[in-house]
Amino acid sequence: MKLIFLGPPGAGKGTIASRISKDLNIPHISTGDLFRKAIKNQTELGKKVQQIIESGDLVPDALTVALVKERLNNPDVENGYILDGFPRTIKQADSLESFSKIDNVINFVISDEQVIQRLSGRRMCKNCGEGYHIENMKPQKEGICDKCGEELIIRPDDTPEAIKNRLAVYYESTAPLIDYYKEKGLLLDIDGAQEVGKVAEATSKAISK
Ligand code: AP5
Repeated sequence: MKLIFLGPPGAGKGTIASRISKDLNIPHISTGDLFRKAIKNQTELGKKVQQIIESGDLVPDALTVALVKERLNNPDVENGYILDGFPRTIKQADSLESFSKIDNVINFVISDEQVIQRLSGRRMCKNCGEGYHIENMKPQKEGICDKCGEELIIRPDDTPEAIKNRLAVYYESTAPLIDYYKEKGLLLDIDGAQEVGKVAEATSKAISK
């Protein structure tokens, strides 16, 4: 099954993708994670995109499409994949259509207030990238990753200024994809404001229909 997870920043795309990808045994491909890995390793790509990402702007379409196209050449996508955070512009969506055929697009719906509450309390493991929240998804030991025992950090693009910009960028460039995929009959809306277990359950149900 080939899925796209769409929604504003902080809608829970990554949290739910990591669960559904295990259930379906398909890879969770997050362009944000791929870019953050490149930044961590200070590759050419990482150096190019670091400032763009920290400010909350979008990486240019050509770079992003090339990255995804290469990733989808990996044999592990044979039975499908979840694209988390891609496409994010109509141009990216048009390009994706030229090299892969999507089964469903899950659109996680949450309010701007919830986006701000979630992102301002998010913590991320600096080693493995596992996500937490200081109120909604606490680690067992404060400030420490349950999975690998490393320190939890605040993402550089989770500052109030970057969050504001990311929301504005979402409405301008990404929200038009809702109608784009609705017209193609691929869009499934999910109430992303429910607690994590319920969102995951609603997503599984929607894609199994
Ligand atoms: P990316 O990493 O994709 O960031 P994003 O879309 O802004 O999404 P987030 O990771 O912030 O949120 P999420 O929806 O995954 O929510 P999460 O599950 O973490 O992209 C980062 C940057 O990379 C972009 O700004 C851009 O610069 C660049 N980029 C990436 N893709 C690109 C593309 N295609 N084109 C161009 N540039 C691109 O949850 C958030 C928090 O809420 C967590 O703390 C979590 O614990 C909590 N939470 C989750 N679900 C729930 C729930 N149901 N109830 C309560 N709390 C919850």
